[in-house]
Amino acid sequence: MTVTSINPTLTKTWEKLSNHFASIKDVKMQDLFTEDPKRVQDFHIKWNEFLLDFSKNRITKETMSLLVELADELKLKDAISDYFSGTNINRTEDRAVLHTALRSKDSVILVDNINIIPEVEAAKEKLKVFSESVISGSRKGVTGKAFTDIVNIGIGGSDLGPDMVTEALKFYKNHLDVHFISNIDGDDVAAKLSKLNPETTLFVVVSKTFTTQETIVNATTVKKWLESYLGESAVASHFVAVSTNPEKVVEFGIATDDMFPMWDWVGGRFSLWSPVGLSIVLAIGYSNFEQLLDGANDMDQHFRTADFNVNIPVILALLSVWYNNFFGAETEAVIPYSQYLQKLVPYLQQGVMESNGKGTSRTGEKVTYQTGTIVWGQTGSNCQHAFFQLFHQGTKLIPTDFIGFKNSLSGNKQHHDILMANFFAQTEALLWGKSIEVLNDENEFLKAFKVFEGNKPTNTLLIDKLKPKSIGSLIAMYEHKIFVQGIIWNIFSYDQWGVELGKQLAKNILSEIEGDSNHKHDSSTSFLLKEYLK
Ligand code: F6P
Repeated sequence: MTVTSINPTLTKTWEKLSNHFASIKDVKMQDLFTEDPKRVQDFHIKWNEFLLDFSKNRITKETMSLLVELADELKLKDAISDYFSGTNINRTEDRAVLHTALRSKDSVILVDNINIIPEVEAAKEKLKVFSESVISGSRKGVTGKAFTDIVNIGIGGSDLGPDMVTEALKFYKNHLDVHFISNIDGDDVAAKLSKLNPETTLFVVVSKTFTTQETIVNATTVKKWLESYLGESAVASHFVAVSTNPEKVVEFGIATDDMFPMWDWVGGRFSLWSPVGLSIVLAIGYSNFEQLLDGANDMDQHFRTADFNVNIPVILALLSVWYNNFFGAETEAVIPYSQYLQKLVPYLQQGVMESNGKGTSRTGEKVTYQTGTIVWGQTGSNCQHAFFQLFHQGTKLIPTDFIGFKNSLSGNKQHHDILMANFFAQTEALLWGKSIEVLNDENEFLKAFKVFEGNKPTNTLLIDKLKPKSIGSLIAMYEHKIFVQGIIWNIFSYDQWGVELGKQLAKNILSEIEGDSNHKHDSSTSFLLKEYLK
């Protein structure tokens, strides 16, 4: 069975939701909380070390039951079962979507009638053995020295996940320093190389296709740099690769023994659980990586089995649809109150926007409703001193996820209490605002500028502690939110055709810059190219 195609706006529940929206759109959350002092009891979910409080949303019990009804009418349950069982739900690339298999405890998952679990286990074993040899220093560089630095060369999904998780789990890191080269920007490559010792640096080239221009050019530049210090024979000892394309890897000069597999059924932006996560394994060790996988698998089980009204990814997805499609919110923010999560938002931006930034329905028609939201954000409390002004007093509706941890890692209670006081204060301020009536002592003119309307929706995710396991669950939570939204919006979430046009045009323009051909351009592009070439 493959995922069905239903225009959500033509369902019975959508009509009910539209009517319900008309009656609720002007209701203030402040009144909902005043009328029902125990409101939070109906709108929170406790699961493992997670507490999701979604009571500070512009919803009633009826809203949530209608949203769940919408998920039922759109056959979300069947879609989840297709997703986990290896059906080709990525129809536009004719592939299954099985990043969940990489952290599964099942012994059989079939893709085209072949059990993929043995090869997943073999890849994990290879990751374990290899990472232990690098961490212990038994695997050495060509001059006999142990590695001190790892450089991941990749872009998009072959960079963002490993970079984000390595940063998030910095607290659990060993002695190896991990760096990331992704941008084709030569200045960045030069700056990063200038700090490295070629004798003690291991390069991990990560590219599912091994044809991505940026990655191959960067890897080739780095290879030349290494050769200039240690000679051509050093490449085999200092480079390993992760790819689905062995021919290209070997052509580059990396032995197949030093190649780690990737699979068509894992999308780049969901691949950190695969050998694409090699730099994570090198940074935190294999047992911590296993914990990350376990946390993700725990979330997978929750998502597969929990009723929709207590299912964290489903609830988050439905709330997001509610604001996107009924309130007309264009963006949503994610604000983690941990500096270790500073790369979570760029990671989610690829996951969310490359997946659900689509305007064609599953039957090939242009959709007539809004799809993928714009995701943005930064860590708190930093962002309170940057863009929170607009949250509090601006004109935009920006539903926001606040992510915080009950315990700090360093044990610095004073700092953590201040951090978390800010965390709780912000969602309270966004809910209640500050009315003109309480500004009694204020100068008459200034009163209007000091009013906060409140009624700004937030989800609060309070997690016990930032650990490999909780980070695994957190990432999987957002992965499944993306999936649910794709099902509801009736789009294919797992292709990325939208990135191809720019790549093609860049190739044409590069050949033109190199003097090989002459393409027709609009006057603006021609003018800019002429100026560049002067
Ligand atoms: O251009 C987009 C994209 O295809 C992403 O989806 C992917 O994560 C990235 O490029 C890198 O691709 P690869 O791993 O094949 O180099």
